[in-house]
Amino acid sequence: MRSFSQHQKKLGKTIGLVPTMGYLHSGHISLIERAKKDCDTVVVSIYVNPTQFGPEEDYKRYPRDLERDKKLAKAAGADVLFTPSNKEIYPDGYSTYVRVEKLSEKLCGVSRPTHFRGVTTVVAKLFNIIKPDKSYFGWKDAQQLIIIKKMVEDLNLNVKVVGLPTLREKDGLAISSRNKYLSKEEREIAPILYQALQKAKKIVSSGERNVEKVLRELKKIIEEKKIKIDYLKAVNLSDFADVKRIEKNTLIAVAAWVGQTRLIDNMLIRN
Ligand code: PAF
Repeated sequence: MRSFSQHQKKLGKTIGLVPTMGYLHSGHISLIERAKKDCDTVVVSIYVNPTQFGPEEDYKRYPRDLERDKKLAKAAGADVLFTPSNKEIYPDGYSTYVRVEKLSEKLCGVSRPTHFRGVTTVVAKLFNIIKPDKSYFGWKDAQQLIIIKKMVEDLNLNVKVVGLPTLREKDGLAISSRNKYLSKEEREIAPILYQALQKAKKIVSSGERNVEKVLRELKKIIEEKKIKIDYLKAVNLSDFADVKRIEKNTLIAVAAWVGQTRLIDNMLIRN
């Protein structure tokens, strides 16, 4: 992978990287297509990164289908698939981690305390190996996107991090590999997270800025469907601190358990 990248650079070609954990869906495809538009060579990495899963989480059962991914990635414009093994990424005695402080402790970091350390470590390693000019991430994982941008800034990494909009099913459910875990009944109620966020948008555009009032309404909508909220927050996009009033760049973010599946979604108030 390293020598391929070096060769591309020598030829004066730009490299776009789409890091994934595989089981590609239309969200990933939109990232690959955009990378293809922006860059000469597109690398898609597929690696189910063990360090970003907690001990009780779904690392073992995370969906995997490399043959299907190969076809989808190629059709979307990928030039290279990088599929390292655990031994290559974390050889025996591995002991160096990248942790973006503060931001990694908020929102998902509360119930997943080691998650972002795993993400930033593997993404830093992918950046070092592949040396992309640009790398693409979805806004569905807004916290991940902001944390990676912060890591790049803090460590002076020479890569532009591009965030692209969340892709959704027709009924609004944010597309995620984990949607596969949902039973038929759970799948039917899961779009309530999106519907609640849409409701928030409506309330905010009618002039309401009080976070407590807006979130109370959202909580009611979500909990009516027997969904267990992990967190539902309105935060400042720059530091994920709770805000009292909804303003420009307030992120309304939710994580909730639909049965045994933890789903996340968010909405950014742009103006
Ligand atoms: O968003 C993901 O799929 C993963 O967190 C990533 C960025 C590929 C790191 O393993």
